[in-house]
Amino acid sequence: MRILVTGGTGYIGSHTVLSLLESGHEVIVVDNLANSSEESLRRVAELAGRPAVFVQADLLDEPALEEVFSAHPVDAVIHFAGLKAVGESVQEPLNYYYNNIVGTLNLLRAMDSHGVRTIVFSSSATVYGEHNPVPYIEKMEIGANNPYGRTKEQIEDILSDLGAADERWHVALLRYFNPVGAHPSGRIGEDPQGIPNNLVPFIAQVAVGRREKLLVFGGDYDTPDGTCLRDYIHVVDLAEGHVAALDHIAARPGVHRWNLGSGKGTSVLEMLHAFEQAVGHALPYEITGRRAGDLPAFWADASSALADLGWSTTKTIDQMCEDHWRWQKSNPHGYNAP
Ligand code: NAD
Ligand code: WQD
Repeated sequence: MRILVTGGTGYIGSHTVLSLLESGHEVIVVDNLANSSEESLRRVAELAGRPAVFVQADLLDEPALEEVFSAHPVDAVIHFAGLKAVGESVQEPLNYYYNNIVGTLNLLRAMDSHGVRTIVFSSSATVYGEHNPVPYIEKMEIGANNPYGRTKEQIEDILSDLGAADERWHVALLRYFNPVGAHPSGRIGEDPQGIPNNLVPFIAQVAVGRREKLLVFGGDYDTPDGTCLRDYIHVVDLAEGHVAALDHIAARPGVHRWNLGSGKGTSVLEMLHAFEQAVGHALPYEITGRRAGDLPAFWADASSALADLGWSTTKTIDQMCEDHWRWQKSNPHGYNAP
């Protein structure tokens, strides 16, 4: 198939572009480079032995999108483009709603007018909110507790309404848990701008000497070691989940929802210690106060993706840390080495 990937120069997007190229698809990437570098795609081309087409464009720019769809016939879209920092979304809700919602509406209108009605969307475990028991199951009532999460929930609603109104739409809503790791080559990986918000990129920057120590947000949760539990998923497994979802929905119209997670919870300290194993020595850390909005523990019920897509995670926490470390140590400053 010819797949248009929005946000395809980003962390999960670049790994998915590689999986798509390796599976024989043709790929066109649209990204405004707001949080990424074109270098990721140069390296993806090296790894795949053939390139994706890259168009630098903003989803907020309707004429530019129109041009993309006129110039490149596509069969399906994987939609990663969006802003993703929970804390920033609380500070800048307008920016988040505008970029994520309006960007998606522009994309869907352009798709519809060009007769492209197959889409895989990056949703998030954050849509399950605070009220659901774990593990999270797709049929639960959702309700995010922050503006970023609400953009995901609202886009899920838009896509569900679209699927209900017009049976020509094929929609996959993929709810990712906590993506970490990097391609095992160490050539592509996560390259956060500024201070990393997420645990593993922060640990990796401590390990490479860019940060003094990890602050563990809360050691007094009601969990086995007092730190929060999350369902970490290797980004390569996640990328392959997209290829599986796309294959599945290509032949099946309607709206489908799948959790992409491992089904297991791992604590902050377990993750830190696994990373230390990969690095080969202890890393400095300090247990501090809880971070506002953090839930003590959540993980996926991953059974639907296995039953429907034949997909499940294959990589361990140790592999996630080894691969993340290989990427970080060979690219201490990410894609834009000084
Ligand atoms: P990322 O920031 O690396 O990738 C997102 C890409 O979208 C970036 O390359 C950015 O430049 C681009 N982009 C943003 N707004 C755009 C716009 N208006 N027009 C064109 N391009 C635009 O993030 P990621 O970690 O790869 O996440 C990809 C998707 O998965 C996002 O939608 C994110 O919300 C979602 N998600 C991520 C996680 C996670 O922890 N990384 C978890 C769940 C869901
Ligand atoms: C994991 C654990 C922290 C940093 C976020 C989004 C979610 C999804 C994935 C997009 C928590 C602790 C972290 C640090 C720490 N993204 N931690 N010190 O919060 O589960 O999920 O990313 O959709 O929507 O909310 O991931 O990596 O930030 O935190 O102790 O410096 O690590 O408190 O327990 P989170 P995370």
